[in-house]
Amino acid sequence: MPLSVYSLPWAAREPLLHEASWIKDLREAEADAWRRVRIHGGQPRQHFSDTATYVLSDAVKWLADAPANSIHAIVTDPPYGVVEYENKDHEKLRAGRGGVWRIPPSFDGSKRQPLPRFTVISHEELGKLHSFFSAVAYGMLRSLVPGGHLFVASNPLLSTMTFHAFQEAGFEKRGEVIRLVQTLRGGFKPKGAESEFPEVSGMPRSCWDPWGIFRKPFPGTIADNLRKWGTGGLRRISKDEPFKDVIACSPTRGIEKAIAPHPSLKPQRFLRQIVRASLPLGIGIVHDPFAGSASTLAACEHIGLKSIGCERDPLYFVSVL
Ligand SMILES: C[S@@+](CC[C@H](N)C(=O)[O-])C[C@H]1O[C@@H](n2cnc3c(N)ncnc32)[C@H](O)[C@@H]1O
Repeated sequence: MPLSVYSLPWAAREPLLHEASWIKDLREAEADAWRRVRIHGGQPRQHFSDTATYVLSDAVKWLADAPANSIHAIVTDPPYGVVEYENKDHEKLRAGRGGVWRIPPSFDGSKRQPLPRFTVISHEELGKLHSFFSAVAYGMLRSLVPGGHLFVASNPLLSTMTFHAFQEAGFEKRGEVIRLVQTLRGGFKPKGAESEFPEVSGMPRSCWDPWGIFRKPFPGTIADNLRKWGTGGLRRISKDEPFKDVIACSPTRGIEKAIAPHPSLKPQRFLRQIVRASLPLGIGIVHDPFAGSASTLAACEHIGLKSIGCERDPLYFVSVL
């Protein structure tokens, strides 16, 4: 995704507080961590700008030996649930033929994008998904600084199990952001018996996505941790308005999809609010381990934050260069 497309005058980095000595220390620590993090690992990478780097790598591998205490926030939309981005099912998506992906019915004449069919995930695959999230969570916990926040996208069917993996790894749960969005999940009449049961749906039509909010534990108070690491809290919308946990945001716009044709593209309007909230002082590095089309990096660039993303699929990696 060309980052310049998102350079709208939406929320440029504002000057912070007066430059106390601890702020100078934080900025130096940020610069030092950035120098180390963006060259970490031998994988191919693209430096989009001085503040955004995109790495072709498996997320678990990159996180496993990323410098400890070097990342200040993680904002990510992982592969729910793992199988849809595995080679077998991913090839089916690209060939336009089934697998875990399904094409929603078109009721207004326009072609709908494929959606992962989470209801077909077996018990065994759920176990695999849990192990995958555990491995990711341990790497995240190591690389985040104390008090660093994680925002992780989920869906109502799988969030209980996946969020649990983050808590088991040692994260504290700090709530959820509910993204109000009309999806095409659920709400269908019983398959093959639609006219027999015209007033029945198998499950509700989903109108929201949960994003889990987690934090790496830290000793002492939030104020102490803000001075030491620049983390521990969430950035307010303004002095008078806190960040809130319900955000109405319609599906990704056509113009964004045209720039970044990823099947799970998240909208900039939503991501910008999340990445901004994730760094309470606007100082630090945001990581997206499952960067896809680099939409989180684009949102950070717009706000003026440093960001690094990993994507393991060479086709997505190449498509955003
Ligand atoms: C849900 S999509 C993220 C889409 C992204 N939010 C966007 O707006 O473009 C998940 C991405 O994770 C990638 N992925 C899956 N497993 C991965 C792994 N182990 N390491 C890194 N990336 C992975 C997939 O190829 C896919 O692009």
